Amino acid sequence: LRQFSLQYTMSSRSISKVTVIGAGLMGSGIAQVSAQSGYQVTLVDLNEQLLGKAVQSIQTSLERVAKKQLKDRPEEAKQLVSKTMANLATSQSAADAAKSADLVVEAVVENLELKRSLYRQLDSTAPAGCLFASNTSSLGIAELAEAVPNRKPTFGGLHFFNPVPVMRLVEVVRTPDITEAAFNQLLEFSRSLGKSAVPCKDTPGFIVNRLLVPYLTEAVRMLERGDATAEDIDTAMRLGAGHPMGPIELADYVGLDTTKFIMDGWHAKFPNVELFKPSDMLNKLVEEGRLGRKTGLGFYKWD
Ligand code: CAA
Ligand code: NAD
Repeated sequence: LRQFSLQYTMSSRSISKVTVIGAGLMGSGIAQVSAQSGYQVTLVDLNEQLLGKAVQSIQTSLERVAKKQLKDRPEEAKQLVSKTMANLATSQSAADAAKSADLVVEAVVENLELKRSLYRQLDSTAPAGCLFASNTSSLGIAELAEAVPNRKPTFGGLHFFNPVPVMRLVEVVRTPDITEAAFNQLLEFSRSLGKSAVPCKDTPGFIVNRLLVPYLTEAVRMLERGDATAEDIDTAMRLGAGHPMGPIELADYVGLDTTKFIMDGWHAKFPNVELFKPSDMLNKLVEEGRLGRKTGLGFYKWD
């Protein structure tokens, strides 16, 4: 088990137990890479069905990783899967799962009030010095931390990218109140997962999403105006800009609900910024439950 024994302040704990709240696209990926790196992980969601689906997707993803990394060593590949799965537990109670956590990573839906109320629950049981981190795409980390003022010195952002097992970046977000020691622990934790960690200021969308999400929405607006088809926009950006996925396909991949929550939040905060204006087409798809890859249907039909 990986443990870090850097010189931390009295109140910080070395990380061995990680609780991940929200077992959707992101939470299941964060739980997977943490368990793969030797941490004891508890993954939390609202019911057994969601947790079962997440565990199944982790197993499938791990098998892909094992097959790729240990192509000619099937025995070791099997062990990678079984050892990782043995590091993973599930729970339906965030408060219980936080009781012995060294780090809690929150990856529930992109909603400020929901996240804040969750932090208050966690605060009632998490040990002193436990690190609190949000995987939010667009909300202010300091704004989230307002819910638990006594946790501000150990509260930061850990922003992973989808699909977590493949994407090599974590944005580590600093607030004015986080201690240097806690911030360094978040950087070290990200690196221990084999990711590159980029420190970020607590500004809307940090680095990647401030650039990426308006680009995705601009592509939807292009489609809305009838300037090009979805397929042509995607082919053009794949072949003309060398992106692995075009923007319409990527919006489906991220989740149209998540893309909409991000834009709605920014539009409410910055109503005059043209780039953050809502899109009728995006709103309609979300209203119809066409959320993209995770529901099998968005702009495209997914297997
Ligand atoms: N688990 C494990 N491995 C996976 C995986 C998963 N969930 N998804 C893909 N892989 C692996 C595959 O096994 C494959 O490995 P090989 O090269 O050995 O075959 C490799 O990744 C490539 O996968 P595929 O061949 O299936 O497909 P691809 O080449 O089209 O790649 C992709 C898929 C990695 C998703 C690629 O299309 C891509 O990088 N897309 C862009 C993703 C992106 O931009 N993500 C950021 C979104 S924004 C965000 O996350 C922030 C936010 O807050 C909204
Ligand atoms: P998702 O809809 O796939 O998963 C969210 C999960 O949270 C669901 O399973 C839901 O049941 C669960 N949940 C809701 N309330 C809960 C509660 N009170 N307790 C426990 N679980 C609860 O969403 P996602 O795409 O995984 O996004 C999660 C977070 O990560 C959001 O803040 C999002 O902005 C951020 N994010 C998303 C992406 C992306 O590409 N989708 C990338 C980086 C960050």
